[in-house]
Amino acid sequence: MPPASVHTAVLPAEVMSYLAIEPGMTVVDGTLGGGGHTRLLVDAVGPSGRVIALDRDPIAIERGAAELAGRPVRFAQANFCDLPEVLDALAIERVDRVLLDVGLSSDQLADDTRGFSFDSDGPLDLRFDPTEGEPAWRMVNRLRPETLADIIYEFGEERFSRRIARRIADTRQREPIRTSRDLARVVVAAVPRQKPPQRIHPATRTFQALRIAVNQELKSLRIALERIPTRLAPGGRLAVIAFHSLEDRLVKEAFRNRQVWESLTRSPVEATDDEVARNPRSRSAKLRVARLLDGPADEAGWASPAGE
Ligand SMILES: C[S@@+](CC[C@H](N)C(=O)[O-])C[C@H]1O[C@@H](n2cnc3c(N)ncnc32)[C@H](O)[C@@H]1O
Repeated sequence: MPPASVHTAVLPAEVMSYLAIEPGMTVVDGTLGGGGHTRLLVDAVGPSGRVIALDRDPIAIERGAAELAGRPVRFAQANFCDLPEVLDALAIERVDRVLLDVGLSSDQLADDTRGFSFDSDGPLDLRFDPTEGEPAWRMVNRLRPETLADIIYEFGEERFSRRIARRIADTRQREPIRTSRDLARVVVAAVPRQKPPQRIHPATRTFQALRIAVNQELKSLRIALERIPTRLAPGGRLAVIAFHSLEDRLVKEAFRNRQVWESLTRSPVEATDDEVARNPRSRSAKLRVARLLDGPADEAGWASPAGE
């Protein structure tokens, strides 16, 4: 059994208030993580309801299944963009609520074998599902420096992306980059020293960019936003917590489709100063919630006009 979760759920009260769950509902937590939100969802649906909890990470699923044994939760190790297939396997047609709290959990960050933290001597892997796709160490040793720079710039919003990519290319000519510490050292050597020193580690943006690329996180979210309307009940609600401006933009644009969604959050909901003080991870969280309009929705997420 994996160690107990160290993750603190963000915006818990706001999520629960916007989801307005009633006893007996069927609710999906698309990102189980440490199970903080899942527990709140389970309590809200009560004994007559059910929660379906997904995560790409098999360790999160193993921990959740052990910690929530006996509660009305069905677990699936799956990408939330495959929600329709997960529901088919459970013979569930439509659900009442879906929550996605995207990105990385503190449990993944704390696990030295996964490569998410800069000072780990474990392999630079960065995959949520360690059986799927290419580990980051292979990507950084394989891709052309121009492509690496584009990834670091676009997904990491890192202004020194070209310098970092060039330094990676120089370093790997001598010996391949294997561990997170290897990469963190390369980044620190590549970026100019900041005055005053930055609040975050100089490699933060590079790691974030590679993680998003390795896991194809934006693609998963884009597909999920198209497919979820096909399996939400009319009037059902979707809440998404994003930590990255590109993710938040995808959510914002999806919810702008007024044939499908009624947005319940005009601007994104953010953590209070109190929550940020207690849980610094919540600083960049942005919650958006929308209600599915009453008409049926097809695969593309467009509601069919009445009579068609
Ligand atoms: C921020 S954590 C969720 C924390 C959780 N809400 C809690 O309260 O503990 C994000 C989780 O989502 C998972 N994840 C990220 N992208 C995913 C995807 N496309 N499908 C399923 N799980 C995903 C990660 O593996 C991670 O465990």
